Amino acid sequence: MSEMRDELADLVADVRAALEANRALGVVDESVLDPVVEAVAPADPPASAPTSSASTKEQPALIAVPPGSTLFAPGAESLADVRQALGDCTRCGLCEGRRNIVFGVGDPEADLMIVGEAPGFNEDRVGEPFVGAAGEMLDKMLVHVLGLQREQVYIANVVKCRPPDNRNPAPAEVASCLPFLMRQIAAIQPRLILVLGSVALKNLLDTTDGITRSRGHWRELHGIPVMPTFHPAYLLRNPAHKRLTFNDLKAVRARYDSLDGKR
Ligand code: URA
Repeated sequence: MSEMRDELADLVADVRAALEANRALGVVDESVLDPVVEAVAPADPPASAPTSSASTKEQPALIAVPPGSTLFAPGAESLADVRQALGDCTRCGLCEGRRNIVFGVGDPEADLMIVGEAPGFNEDRVGEPFVGAAGEMLDKMLVHVLGLQREQVYIANVVKCRPPDNRNPAPAEVASCLPFLMRQIAAIQPRLILVLGSVALKNLLDTTDGITRSRGHWRELHGIPVMPTFHPAYLLRNPAHKRLTFNDLKAVRARYDSLDGKR
């Protein structure tokens, strides 16, 4: 009797695994992004002493990495070396309001790297990228469309400390931090990069095109194919665009599947 029960439990587990695999392999549509699309991102608590004006909030940082930049030296150092070099960074004013440096998370040998903009309130508290509502959305994108767990990719941001009031990072802040992102990329040597949102796009790639025009089109950074798509936080505010992101992610998955000798 207990043997039968065990067999039944195994069968149920197999069916569950098969369903999960089907979802990961593409028997899904963009509605997999629905549950968190409905969840509204919690607003940050009002800062007790606002440090930025309305004009800085809108200010985009535009420090694109030029092709052939010497910032990028593959294999020169490990991710741990880069973290050590960053230290208890005070290179820009963002250090004053931060709780934690949000360096990055995931597999240091990941084939796929994901680049966002900057830590928000929750990321600053926890010290890990994408742990708030946008992170929940990113997890959906990863698991249900890309078929990957967070631990299988590497996630980092253009800047490592939270800009006050969640404003865009200022050019000087990006200029201080971007070399460390480039060193992270050089250490990891991902074979694909997914770029989330226009701040990451414009700072990582040599383009003035916005994300709406750029998304869905492969680009290149030092020979690494880069796919720009909408930022998960943008999708929370604009759920109508999740289909486009879904398509971009499917293109990434297809290219990922075609990689030889995945690590
Ligand atoms: N948005 C980002 O761009 N990065 C994070 O880590 C969190 C939210």
